[in-house]
Amino acid sequence: MLSARLSVRKMDAVLGAEIQGVDLSKPVDDATATEIDRLWLEHEVIFFRQQNLTPEDHIRVSEQLGPVEVHVRTDCCRPGYPKVFIVSNIVENGKPIGAGDAGTIWHSDGCCYDKPSRGSLLYARQVPVKDGVTLGDTMFSSMTQAYAALPPEMKRRLAGMNALNSYVKGYSRPRKTGPIPALTEAQKSKVPDLEIPVVRKHPFTGKPCLFVNEGYTTRIVGVSDSESRELLDYLFRHVTRPEFIYRHNWREGDLLAWDNCATQHCAIMDYAPLLRRMERTTITGSASIKDGAYAMSRAA
Ligand code: SIN
Repeated sequence: MLSARLSVRKMDAVLGAEIQGVDLSKPVDDATATEIDRLWLEHEVIFFRQQNLTPEDHIRVSEQLGPVEVHVRTDCCRPGYPKVFIVSNIVENGKPIGAGDAGTIWHSDGCCYDKPSRGSLLYARQVPVKDGVTLGDTMFSSMTQAYAALPPEMKRRLAGMNALNSYVKGYSRPRKTGPIPALTEAQKSKVPDLEIPVVRKHPFTGKPCLFVNEGYTTRIVGVSDSESRELLDYLFRHVTRPEFIYRHNWREGDLLAWDNCATQHCAIMDYAPLLRRMERTTITGSASIKDGAYAMSRAA
């Protein structure tokens, strides 16, 4: 077991840090894993450069942070590794090897699950480069900062409000890369629409986080259609303000972990016909959204 001396390089943004001094292809001891977990909670997005990981390594590192879930789109999982979800535009033998334009709208992974996913770890296997410039960046926006920056009257208005998240509607949106396979009835039944608090208390830090996203939130519950639209348009614009964002420029061998409550993300699809291959694990959430523990009862 490796006991690593970690060093931290904070990004020039309100979230994001590079963690140096650890080779994740070797098992790390509990103290190192605990420190990585702490840094993840502190910085919301952390990444490690120059990692040479097998799928087994990727799963092992992820499982030190929590149990790994299997994505509802099992057709996009790496053969033999149901816990590894492939995000890629590569087609082999006439068949896409993974989800082609996953994540190209602001969203949070697992936000439609009763236990919303804690976080995700994306590993860059192949990144597109054009004229020496790496394309296919991913943007991350801090939902703790976005909430904190809301005007007090908006915080009061949102307190105790719920919204509806729909994986089925979000999945069915028109895609930049053309049609994608329809969800089967069995897949749909695993992700029924879910009522979620608009402002969610972070399960570990207790910080209030804005939890609605353009990808999957369809309406605010208990208000008129026009009020719901007005609020969602405002919030979807608000979370994309540049001061909340860290934009990650990928290098092959990067392993990056984001927190799905404290952040949302959006992948930039600027590289076709160049090829990109990323592999993702997703950590299961620790508590059911229905138990109320995540709701902020009043403006914080
Ligand atoms: C995702 O949303 O899981 C993928 C993000 C990316 O491909 O950059």
